[in-house]
Amino acid sequence: MTQIPPPYSRRVAASDDLEVSAYLEIAQGKCGQGSAPDQPADPQREAILVIDFGSQYSRLIARRVRESKVYCEIIEHETPWESVEHLNPRGVILSGGPASVYEPGAPTAPWWVYDKGLPVLGICYGMQVLVHQLGGEVAPSARREFGHAVLHRNTQDEPLFSGLPASMPVWMSHGDRIIAPPPGFETLAYTENSPVAAIGNRRGIAGIQFHPEVVHTPDGKALLDNFVHSVCGCQALWTPANFVAGAIEDIRSKVGDGKVICALSGGVDSAVAATLIHKAVGEQLTCIFVNNGLLRREEPERVLDTFKKHLGVPLVYADASDQFLDALSEVIDPEEKRRVIGEEFIRVFEREAAWLGTANFLAQGTLYPDIIESKTPENKVAAKIKTHHNVGGLPSRMKLKLIEPLRYLFKDEVREVGLELGLAEEVVYRQPFPGPGLAIRVMGEVTKDKLEVLRAADWVVMDEIKANGLYRRLWQSFAVLTNTQTVGVTGDYRTYGHVVAVRAVTSTEAMTADWARLPYQVLARISNRIANEVPGVNRVVFDITSKPPGTIEWE
Ligand code: XMP
Repeated sequence: MTQIPPPYSRRVAASDDLEVSAYLEIAQGKCGQGSAPDQPADPQREAILVIDFGSQYSRLIARRVRESKVYCEIIEHETPWESVEHLNPRGVILSGGPASVYEPGAPTAPWWVYDKGLPVLGICYGMQVLVHQLGGEVAPSARREFGHAVLHRNTQDEPLFSGLPASMPVWMSHGDRIIAPPPGFETLAYTENSPVAAIGNRRGIAGIQFHPEVVHTPDGKALLDNFVHSVCGCQALWTPANFVAGAIEDIRSKVGDGKVICALSGGVDSAVAATLIHKAVGEQLTCIFVNNGLLRREEPERVLDTFKKHLGVPLVYADASDQFLDALSEVIDPEEKRRVIGEEFIRVFEREAAWLGTANFLAQGTLYPDIIESKTPENKVAAKIKTHHNVGGLPSRMKLKLIEPLRYLFKDEVREVGLELGLAEEVVYRQPFPGPGLAIRVMGEVTKDKLEVLRAADWVVMDEIKANGLYRRLWQSFAVLTNTQTVGVTGDYRTYGHVVAVRAVTSTEAMTADWARLPYQVLARISNRIANEVPGVNRVVFDITSKPPGTIEWE
């Protein structure tokens, strides 16, 4: 059997040759998505590019394509061909977006999209863009079409719709519509309100007015699968095994005989990053675990135990709790908390790494959503929601080069890679925990006392969630210490105590989330136990906000 060479051997850690200041420019979107443009196209790779016109669903499109085992990257609409050529694009998807193509300054696709002979799929605004650019006509609709519609096909032999029913439910969300397709295009399908709901030409350029990426279009996944495999001719190279092989090769070539330090947080991301790097360069890796005083109860012990047991890499433990809490004193603003924590982390690293002398790489478990969510508003496409300390808050004076083997992965892909690497399920399926830890779950100023109250409440939540077999079904479950106090009664006495909020959400990669419908008896036990077991708390509330409009964390 022929061995397939790792298709993504240079895919990992595009920023790792860069000093951190330059990296920050990438993280802030000033240099595109961070792919090194000077690499030649590799025939063993394949990629689908999503040109992002600002749709809230762009990332969902990327997720769906990757579920079809094809690597997919989101790029900005001004990205030049030279920056993406090395990815060996096999097709382009134009995302939806809020603009109207006939308005001055509306974003369009770069011309290489049409000139390179690649298959193109325009979705919603993306369809209108290609119609507009290729000589068709788009106009405002008399009626906005939003929600469910039924799509009827005009033709039965389109590869894009292969295997799909003649009529199917689809999800619409548009104000503009196609009046006339561009020359050479055929109308493939219609709905009651959109006479031109899908178009295509013989060159594999197609447009669809509906959203195949959302669950409300039940056949949407099959349609995207048709696009990447039948229309674009992609194989299925995006697998955990291929990723691991490529990442190991890449880390070896980057690190050479240098030394790497890796900050373990206890979470799956840094565990997987460390394991990959350890597999690649063995004892050249030293892990550092910083206790920032913002961890959950028994967390430091558990992390040390887990990593000694599972990773067996040299591990330095730095207890810097007091340093962090001092730095956080009187800090209230959530973004400022993140900045302070990010800065203290780097101080501790610099201090602890000093004895390593020759350490020249810092490994981090940064993920693709971290990169996307930390973009600044100037980046036009995705507005900044929160600065994740491992991206936005790094001081630029830091001299270590970054190595981020997971920066193109979504969370569930990281878990699959973790399993591929042989990590234990208890590590791989651990619920995410934010880098700034409990600091962003204590509203207002962070103090030792408040942290103790939160730890005790959080312990109860975790205990009950696990005892009731819910842990793996929830994306995250935790307690928040609000800065509200309320009146209560215990025995015959009036109390004036803290309000604890319980948060439990389901999600696939934290871009959107829904509040979990926890069984009443579980909520009742959590509430009862917190009120009884956590001194100073006399009220428990349950957060029933989805994301959006909320975020998962409270700060
Ligand atoms: P939000 O609260 O933005 O969180 O919906 C999305 C996911 O990211 C985690 N999170 C963070 N992780 N540094 C991190 O490393 C941060 O500053 C940070 N803020 C939120 C959050 O727990 C959730 O999984």
